[in-house]
Amino acid sequence: MNHIYPIKTKVSKEQREQLMEQHATLIWFTGLSGSGKSTLAVQLEAQLHNLGYKTYLLDGDNIRAGLNKDLTFTDDGRVENIRRIGEVSKLLLDAGVIVLSAFISPFQADRRQVKEIVGAKNYIEVFVDAPLEVCEQRDVKGLYKKARAGEVKNFTGIDSPYEAPTDADMVLQTGELSVEESVGRLMEFVVPRISLKFKV
Ligand code: ADX
Repeated sequence: MNHIYPIKTKVSKEQREQLMEQHATLIWFTGLSGSGKSTLAVQLEAQLHNLGYKTYLLDGDNIRAGLNKDLTFTDDGRVENIRRIGEVSKLLLDAGVIVLSAFISPFQADRRQVKEIVGAKNYIEVFVDAPLEVCEQRDVKGLYKKARAGEVKNFTGIDSPYEAPTDADMVLQTGELSVEESVGRLMEFVVPRISLKFKV
């Protein structure tokens, strides 16, 4: 905090939330590559938007193509990736927006840090829990095959760890549930928590 003097705005987060009639919340999807994070986040965002909620989706592949394109997939790169996303999410929440984020976010400590940055009451963690075998079988991007062949290094689940959450707010077994079932459960859980119109 060297010679930094943050200004105080006249409009508060609460006032923006009132205007937008929503409780700005971060819905954090975590899980292996290919587990279904992006698919669920995209569908959930569309349904929330159709109900009139103001949303924004942050996705690993998109953010890593822009804001975080200087970062690698080493442990350090992933830690910094998630730290920045935590800070970006905080700004969007401050703007009153409902944020959905889909990052592997393999480390428990980093997810905890995000929760701390945005505040526990504004954070919903969703563990998209598909076994490695299922993700590898799907291999939508062909990256598991490349990782097994040693062409992609530090691949999560292969030669880089994934620490499964032990205290997620929601766990979705996407190897067993259809996308519609998962999104249905998400809507049931999320809508009462982001709505200012009816309280939980
Ligand atoms: S995180 O670990 O830092 O949270 P993030 O979600 O941003 O990862 O990016 C994951 C996406 O990057 C994957 O879906 C995949 O498409 C791509 N990717 C490229 N290299 C790797 C790798 N070594 N490990 C995991 N994902 C990778």
